[in-house]
Amino acid sequence: MKEKISFLKNKIDLTSPNKNIVPITTNIDSAEKLNIGGCSIEDLVKKYDSPLYILDEITLRNSCKAYKKALEKYYPGLSLPIYASKANSSLFMSNLVASEGFGLDAVSEGELLTALKGGVPNEKIVFHGNNKSDKEIAFAIKNKIKVIVDNDYDLRRLEEISDSLGNDLEIMIRFTPGIECHTHEYIKTGSFDSKFGFGIESLNKLFQLLNKTRHLKLIGLHAHIGSQIFELDPHKDLGEIMVNVILQARDFGHNIKELNVGGGLGIKYTQEDDPPSIDEWIKTVSLSIVKACKKNKLSLPLLMCEPGRSIVSTAGVTIYKIGAFKEIPGIRTYLSVDGGMSDNPRPITYQSNYSACLVNNPLNNNSKKKYTIAGKHCESGDVLFKDLELGNCKTGDLICVFGTGAYNNSMSSNYNRIPKPAAILVFDGEAEIIQRRESPHDLLKYDVLPDRFIKQS
Ligand code: LLP
Repeated sequence: MKEKISFLKNKIDLTSPNKNIVPITTNIDSAEKLNIGGCSIEDLVKKYDSPLYILDEITLRNSCKAYKKALEKYYPGLSLPIYASKANSSLFMSNLVASEGFGLDAVSEGELLTALKGGVPNEKIVFHGNNKSDKEIAFAIKNKIKVIVDNDYDLRRLEEISDSLGNDLEIMIRFTPGIECHTHEYIKTGSFDSKFGFGIESLNKLFQLLNKTRHLKLIGLHAHIGSQIFELDPHKDLGEIMVNVILQARDFGHNIKELNVGGGLGIKYTQEDDPPSIDEWIKTVSLSIVKACKKNKLSLPLLMCEPGRSIVSTAGVTIYKIGAFKEIPGIRTYLSVDGGMSDNPRPITYQSNYSACLVNNPLNNNSKKKYTIAGKHCESGDVLFKDLELGNCKTGDLICVFGTGAYNNSMSSNYNRIPKPAAILVFDGEAEIIQRRESPHDLLKYDVLPDRFIKQS
């Protein structure tokens, strides 16, 4: 049988990190051990313990720069890339994307606050959500943040609250363009049957209604068709559909100046994945809008896009320590690690696949064996990998899982009262903490024992 080449031998694409499995700075040192960002992973775990989230600054910045560069190339002078902070929200991420000239997409007061405190200018933030609370809406209005309206109820609340505060509010309309794409059912959002956005058939009525509002100023349109998408055609179609909706809005007297095409570009989690590059994605989106505008003699709107996963996923890895082994003769060998579904709920939620290697033997240089990597949670489905090929390993060895920068930390939980891992940033041989490790005591912080119950010391 032809031997599978380790993904660690793939040629690294410096300009489109989403096409790599590993962070750009991944290296195997002279002792054949794994390094990222010039740091020895073994040393990092000695210092920061495990499980450990690691982000590679160079990979992050290269992803941001790839979006900026492609936008300048295909849509010069008229674009704003916006980081979808649901992928990984922190003061650090807000600060980093702001320093690269990005705006930020937030869906809660928590994400809004993190963006503002992290240094993202308010005028570059957009506020999403299909069920925003009054408090969240007031927070957005007071901070002069643009709001993406999702449904009739949302519109009524926005109108009432902006009227009561007496503040004007710039809004964009989110609609479902009716585009099908091939991705997991749970992360498809552009088809007609979606909980997000106005149905395209209801837009005329909406445009009429918006002419009667006092403080809401319609300036843009938004659509997001899904996530982890490898095809380009759905985004080509989206550009055309959005330009048609600009024309439709014009018939009702609305001047749409901004188009936000959402995010969705996929990344390479495994050798089988082959996503388009950032350049190809931006080219597709830009050219379809430029072409449709030309055809309809429309001046170009500001183009916004909202990448999340393709900014942060490949920059991130998670390190686990191996504990228990359980061999079931003739069936499989389970190997348990010190984390699992609480720090990475994606395998149990979406049956997602990842790539991984041993930190002290990344190329599997001794005999290869298949292991099923189990998390430590009280749930049979808490399995991170089925039949993963690794070199010989033992209790105490470290495993590095790649591509965990997006939707891991941000979707993590404290199931089984497991504290969240620390997160560190690596750059040029230095490591800095960006999220402190929780302790079991931290998890008690919000528990309250009513006075009539007896407290144990
Ligand atoms: N804009 C909007 C309105 C979105 O809803 C999303 C993702 C994005 C942008 C960013 O999409 P991205 O570039 O990351 O594909 N938890 C799932 C992914 C859910 C995506 C939700 N919306 C996962 O772990 O795969």
